[in-house]
Amino acid sequence: MHNQVILIEHPLIQHKLTLLRKVETDTAKFRVLLKEISLLLAYEVTRDLPVKYEQIQTPLSLMKAPMLAPDKKLVIVSIQRAGQGILEGMLELMPSARVGHIGLYRDPKTLIAVEYYFKVPDDVEQRDVLIVDPMLATGNTAVAAVERLKSTNPLSIKFVCLLAAPEGIEHFTDVHPDVPIYTAAIDEYLDEKGYIIPGLGDAGDRLFGTK
Ligand code: URA
Repeated sequence: MHNQVILIEHPLIQHKLTLLRKVETDTAKFRVLLKEISLLLAYEVTRDLPVKYEQIQTPLSLMKAPMLAPDKKLVIVSIQRAGQGILEGMLELMPSARVGHIGLYRDPKTLIAVEYYFKVPDDVEQRDVLIVDPMLATGNTAVAAVERLKSTNPLSIKFVCLLAAPEGIEHFTDVHPDVPIYTAAIDEYLDEKGYIIPGLGDAGDRLFGTK
């Protein structure tokens, strides 16, 4: 496996991901599972956040206790529309993270990513960015999103997804060898329409019940 890819194989994530993949999982259950998985992904992705020690008083004693370093600020950038599902879970764990949105859709004929919306916090240059999208399929959307984010000069960028196709990983790592990919699974291949096989279907449609 490419050393830029961090495969998160925690049993709780794997179990919930299996439930998420099942065709019989309805929209309500899909939303809950995606939120739960995202919360667990956030836990793994933020492992390297620095802490600072501050003096506190417990009921019994004074102690120096770790707190997240206040100068280490995050922004979660959701790729519309399916990224919204991951964003919500992550915000539950990190309620003060700032949020950005990038609107990119895949042209169904060419599979090329087309941007229609972009908004990130003004101080993104002082922030670490987590770009979230459940599926890394062809990689076109993820590559375009990272390119766009790089133009805003954040401190760092990580890409977080649930499922990645080998083709998407190859494309992404070719163009952005400096950006780590966090994923809960690497599936087998892409079909001719750009869907991940075995995958979970269209993440946006399953999340929003649009099909
Ligand atoms: N986007 C999806 O929602 N599903 C796929 O399988 C590929 C891209």
